[in-house]
Amino acid sequence: MNTTTSARPAHDIHDISLADQGRLRTEWAGQRMPVLERIRERFEQERPLEGKRVAACLHVTTETANLMVTLKAAGAEVLLCASNPLSTQDDVAAHLVRDHGIGVFAVRGETDDVYYEHIRDALAFRPDISMDDGADLVGSLHMIALERWDDLAGPVRDWVMELDADERQTLVDGVVGSTEETTTGVIRLKAMEKDDVLRFPVIAVNDSLTKHLFDNRYGTGQSTLDGIIRATNVLIAGSTVVVAGYGWCGRGFAMRARGMGANVIVTEVDPLKALEAVMDGYRVMTMEEAAPIGDIFCTLTGNLHVLREEHFRAMKDGAIVCNSGHFNVEIDLESLLRISEGNPTEVRNSVEEYRIDGSGVYLIGQGRLVNLAAAEGHPAAVMDMSFANQCLGAEFLVQNISSLERRVYTVPDAIDREIARLKLESMGSNVDILTEEQERYLASWDQGT
Ligand code: NAI
Repeated sequence: MNTTTSARPAHDIHDISLADQGRLRTEWAGQRMPVLERIRERFEQERPLEGKRVAACLHVTTETANLMVTLKAAGAEVLLCASNPLSTQDDVAAHLVRDHGIGVFAVRGETDDVYYEHIRDALAFRPDISMDDGADLVGSLHMIALERWDDLAGPVRDWVMELDADERQTLVDGVVGSTEETTTGVIRLKAMEKDDVLRFPVIAVNDSLTKHLFDNRYGTGQSTLDGIIRATNVLIAGSTVVVAGYGWCGRGFAMRARGMGANVIVTEVDPLKALEAVMDGYRVMTMEEAAPIGDIFCTLTGNLHVLREEHFRAMKDGAIVCNSGHFNVEIDLESLLRISEGNPTEVRNSVEEYRIDGSGVYLIGQGRLVNLAAAEGHPAAVMDMSFANQCLGAEFLVQNISSLERRVYTVPDAIDREIARLKLESMGSNVDILTEEQERYLASWDQGT
């Protein structure tokens, strides 16, 4: 493992010699991110983040590498750490350090302790802006602000305890704002706003239409299936796939699984979403009913223990279980281990067999995001829009910092639509423009009868 060298920024990555491969793959992704490229060209001229220190806690993938380069082009000093111990692409980390002088703290398969050492390194960078995927940086900053030491992970706590009160204050007050990538992070931030503990404005990138309508649906839909197939090589056609949660991610995954010939069952807790699933043509039932029927189970809920002991015990021999929600809490892993006969056996890369009551239950990627643990995450073409929102969200934050309150904001609608327009243009499609007559008609209440 490499550590700091004088010629390079501080970093902690697996192997710098992987940089060539990382560069090629990052360039490949970049060719599929035309909106981000347009933004990068403008940022190079206007330098909207000049002098700002941006600490990003995101999945270290080829698409994220293109985002980091864009932020640097905007004049920011950038640091990147992983937002999941299993999602880091080590070659990409090496490329960013060697070719762009960006400090990366991420090693694929890092232990929980190392994961939080890297979060600590990102905080020690003393960012002006933090960029999260799951609120790990913002969460830690707030635990420090609220002096909730017991809620901090060990490596962060040990470091913070060595700072004096003034240094801690400066650390927290130094952050002027943050952006958040995913549903789970936004839910946490809104809870912080509601409890009146949020210390700075946050841009909820996930809430942009050009983010969740596309990334969560088409990105998660395709890449989740990709992860399952790469890990197991099972035939999807004719199999029964149980989709827990029919939100944006669940809809996308259910749609793609059906497209490959699966019989899809949806489980939900929200009657509206369940009704939508029924009318979209899926069978809807409880997890208790689905457990003995399913061949493949995937959780996409953002909730806790959606698959648990009674479900594992009811599953067929050979059932495959995975999660594509943000945290690895959707599958009750403790119960899975407790009820299994002996320790799990790794039967393929990323697949572990648990023996339960004489049957085999197969867990992919230790219950972490299957699309990142067993595949490469979302395709670049869809991350193009998500990361355009990250860039323009950060620019909006800096431009409006004096008027923003300690709240969770959505990227302004005009920016959202502009991203959609640019994406559409890059795909060679155009939209019609309202005629004056149509504009008048739509704005009136007394015409058209
Ligand atoms: P969403 O809020 O649109 O959907 C979640 C759905 O799960 C809701 O319909 C909710 O009613 C349902 N649900 C909650 N508890 C349930 C339970 N016990 N059983 C069945 N259904 C339940 O959220 P979205 O955007 O679909 O995100 C879901 C998760 O996926 C989040 O953790 C999010 O952060 C994550 N995510 C993962 C991505 C990936 O790359 N794998 C990409 C984007 C989001």
